Amino acid sequence: MSADGKDSAVLGRATHAETEAVTHLTERVSERLAAGSRLAQLSLRSSARTKRAAVVLGRLLALAFVVCFLTGLYSHLLQDPLPGMRFATTPSWLYQVTQGVHITVGLALLPLLLAKLWTVYPVLFRWPAITSWRDVVERGLIAVLVSSALLEPVIGLINTFQWYPWPFSFRRVHYGLAWLIIGGIALHVAFKLPIIVRHWRSGHDDEDPV
Ligand code: HEM
Repeated sequence: MSADGKDSAVLGRATHAETEAVTHLTERVSERLAAGSRLAQLSLRSSARTKRAAVVLGRLLALAFVVCFLTGLYSHLLQDPLPGMRFATTPSWLYQVTQGVHITVGLALLPLLLAKLWTVYPVLFRWPAITSWRDVVERGLIAVLVSSALLEPVIGLINTFQWYPWPFSFRRVHYGLAWLIIGGIALHVAFKLPIIVRHWRSGHDDEDPV
């Protein structure tokens, strides 16, 4: 064999050994993470963290977000009507009522959101976190939904104090986030539909942990 041939054989063996070492390392890291995930899921297990609770809280959240979305849209269109749009100017108290509902339900969103996240957050420690393209889309969506759903009522609350500690237009961001959340909820419900249908009514599966 020529000197060149020997060199490439040695190089080939070295590359193969390195690949095996890296594979072995990633397998061990993944096993550790899976064991940690199982431990986290077990230690966070609680009789209150059930799929039925996720559905009940989810339903209330969806209702509250839809009420806020519709009352917010009404307020937005009153201020920026679409071409040709006309609104009745009476009764004058109508806007007080829709804004009152918007703010009251919007404030109730915060404890509801925290309760929902407390119920389901052990699911986020599942390992492997992603096993398919469906998981990539679903989990990406969850990241967008959770962050926008938390941000929306918080900036709304700060707005009630007429305090604007940010460089962006409150109205434009609040309006944009509202569409993001409504779209996000619709897709989240579509992804979780089998679980939602199974636990819509209370029954013998009520104790199923998340
Ligand atoms: C702003 C609204 C919502 C937020 C922020 C939210 C957040 C979450 C999060 C973080 C998870 C765990 C993620 C995962 O499975 O990977 C989850 C799971 C779930 N959500 Fe929601 N959710 C919302 C609305 C809803 C609605 C409207 C429903 C149904 C009526 C719902 C039903 C469920 C169900 C059934 C699960 C699965 C629990 C399990 O896997 O055991 N969620 N949600």
